[in-house]
Amino acid sequence: MHENTQEITDIILMAAKNAQMETSGEPEPEMTQPIQWPVQCTIGPGLEGGIACETKIGYVNGSKGWLIYRGYNIFDLCAKSSYEEVSYLLLHGSLPTSRAFKIFQKKLVDYRYLNKTLRLLMGFPVEDMNTMGALRMGVSMMRQEFTFRDQKEGHDFGEVIGSDEDSIPMELKPWGDKHAIYEFNNPDVPHKSTLDENLEEAFGVEACYHLISGVSTIAAAVTRVRQGRVPIEPDPGLSHAGNLLYMMTGKKPTPIEERIMDVALILHADHGMNASTFAAMVVASTQSDIYFSVGSGIAALNGPLHGGANEQVMLMLEEIGRPENVKKWLERTLNKKGKVPGFGHRVYKAYDPRARVLGPLAKFLAKKNSKARNVLSIAKELEKQMTERLGSQKKIFPNVDFYSGIVYSCLGVPSAMFTPVFAVSRVAGWTARVHEYLHNNRIFRPRAMYTGEFNKELLPINKRR
Ligand code: ACO
Repeated sequence: MHENTQEITDIILMAAKNAQMETSGEPEPEMTQPIQWPVQCTIGPGLEGGIACETKIGYVNGSKGWLIYRGYNIFDLCAKSSYEEVSYLLLHGSLPTSRAFKIFQKKLVDYRYLNKTLRLLMGFPVEDMNTMGALRMGVSMMRQEFTFRDQKEGHDFGEVIGSDEDSIPMELKPWGDKHAIYEFNNPDVPHKSTLDENLEEAFGVEACYHLISGVSTIAAAVTRVRQGRVPIEPDPGLSHAGNLLYMMTGKKPTPIEERIMDVALILHADHGMNASTFAAMVVASTQSDIYFSVGSGIAALNGPLHGGANEQVMLMLEEIGRPENVKKWLERTLNKKGKVPGFGHRVYKAYDPRARVLGPLAKFLAKKNSKARNVLSIAKELEKQMTERLGSQKKIFPNVDFYSGIVYSCLGVPSAMFTPVFAVSRVAGWTARVHEYLHNNRIFRPRAMYTGEFNKELLPINKRR
């Protein structure tokens, strides 16, 4: 694995060493034990701190800057694995044996061909659409290729409790001794055993493979159509990362380019209960299906506070124009209480490990790209000044989106496609988490505190002011 790309492995190993050195003094992780439901925890606005479920998929330790997938740290996965292996790991819980990997790879190769979906997609003005909108539409069309749900009569609701049957009466305060009756792990409730067995099952693992592979074909087709070109067929001899670049740019990537895209895909594959993962899980919890779930993940990822920040970073760096302009620009932005795209994170209060890898990769690629060198010099100056001003004070550092755009653009990805490329990678995390959650599904249904009025008199329209 990774022939002729030792330089990239060295960059990753160096990032791992720096992370280890800088965060070894931070406390060991808490909150990694099985939960006794119902759980007591402090919840902030935006469900900050709330625990919605247990998972064995991934772990983020914000103060140490750790990112772990299924027990493996992100640096090891980037140095020694591939996106295909990581997707399998996230979905199935262990790295594949060579036999399992062969079967899995064959499926990814097959599912990369989306002729019917692309034919349907070409019927729409994709070139004028928001790229995440086009991606989401493509996923809906993939759904029609694969799910048979629409043709079935009714839905099989199984034994899952509905949202109207909340176990905590809504009129009670959200604390006290009235606890929910949780169906999780109830031996009397048989779980569906069809997840891995029935190819027609719209939540099955086969649909996850279809999405992990196929969303990259849609992203590539959207890129091509926006350039007035026709989509390119995948090359069965290339890796997932290699195919993504090939189908987007029309050029076979060099081993170094393929490897860097592969690392970028691994870094973005999963990240705890972030907004898009949560959105995907909420939709799945209603027993909708995995295509609708992934479509919701795409919609949530689009926002500038989430995955959309990578494109915003590039626009910001272009607007700043030169490193000498950073000071004034930053002053103005912070005085207006503006947020600087690519900085800050709900969970990380240390340097984001993904930015630790992407920053040096951007530097590596910029060596041969003068435009990227200029953009990178602005980014470096902005990082320096932001960290001086807000690093120790508010624990604000670059996040995954800060350097990813520079990496993508050096690989030939247009800026409008940065967030779709993020989505291509995150499909692995979305599907794995949805798949895991459904084994003990309970429909998501938090509540809001009513602070409105009561007992208002309903006046006829001519008496209202
Ligand atoms: N620039 C300037 N100040 C910031 C930034 C930033 N990027 N991020 C946070 N802060 C400040 C806030 O103004 C706030 O200051 P205050 O306490 O004086 O009011 C404090 O830090 C806490 O910020 P919150 O917005 O409350 O943090 P929250 O956890 O709600 O938001 C978020 C996290 C949305 C990522 C935020 O940092 C942000 O908007 N960043 C810019 C957008 C971005 O890069 N998003 C991508 C995140 S990574 C991802 O989703 C893949």
